[in-house]
Amino acid sequence: MIFAANFKTHHTRTATHAYLEALKEKVSLRPEERIVVFPPATALDSYDTDFTVGAQNAYPTYNGAFTGEIGAEQLEEFGIRAILIGHSERREILGESQSFVAEKFRFFQEAGLEIVYCIGEPLEVREAGDDAVIAFLKAQFEGIDTTYEKLIVAYEPIWAIGTGRAATVAEIAATHAALKDIVAKPILYGGSVKPNNAGEILAIESVDGVLVGSASLEADSFAAIVAAGRA
Ligand code: 13P
Repeated sequence: MIFAANFKTHHTRTATHAYLEALKEKVSLRPEERIVVFPPATALDSYDTDFTVGAQNAYPTYNGAFTGEIGAEQLEEFGIRAILIGHSERREILGESQSFVAEKFRFFQEAGLEIVYCIGEPLEVREAGDDAVIAFLKAQFEGIDTTYEKLIVAYEPIWAIGTGRAATVAEIAATHAALKDIVAKPILYGGSVKPNNAGEILAIESVDGVLVGSASLEADSFAAIVAAGRA
């Protein structure tokens, strides 16, 4: 079971240190469990922790003239070996195209990082029905090597992100089952995962973990999600 925390544009380096300390007090990892925390770029550091710390984003370059971006050199300084790619906020707000997302994927695959690759459909596609959803999600694998051994997929329906309206157990089960036919990799669910719905979501057979935004920001709440996954 994989429990991933995406802080997005929340927390500082100081706050992330305190968070990881607090989380260590609350969660002792079982052998079959992993926790991966994605703090903002300015909070990347060489943390003394059993949890994996990853980058939310980086530019597909070792270094170079890309003002405002960070590359593999900046990740290397802190031993960062995991990265989120394809999050809907980057696709939609930052305008990342599928071909750019695929370029990032190829670069960080080549660099050997673990990749949490995010996909997810907007509401109008969900409303068009299951076939439309699967066609949309399939297109988000264009240019992506789905056989990469360090690939973890995160299914995050856009309409469920930050809305308090998670997908239903039936929706998640059906979508993950269809995704398993496309990609034989661990698949996380993300979108309004909270301590009170994490148990039923993590009990779904085709769910290998969760990617949590707002409910991961407090160590207490994220620890409660881990506990729910064990129940
Ligand atoms: P929320 O848990 O806040 O809905 O965010 C989900 C998400 O986007 C994680 O990457």
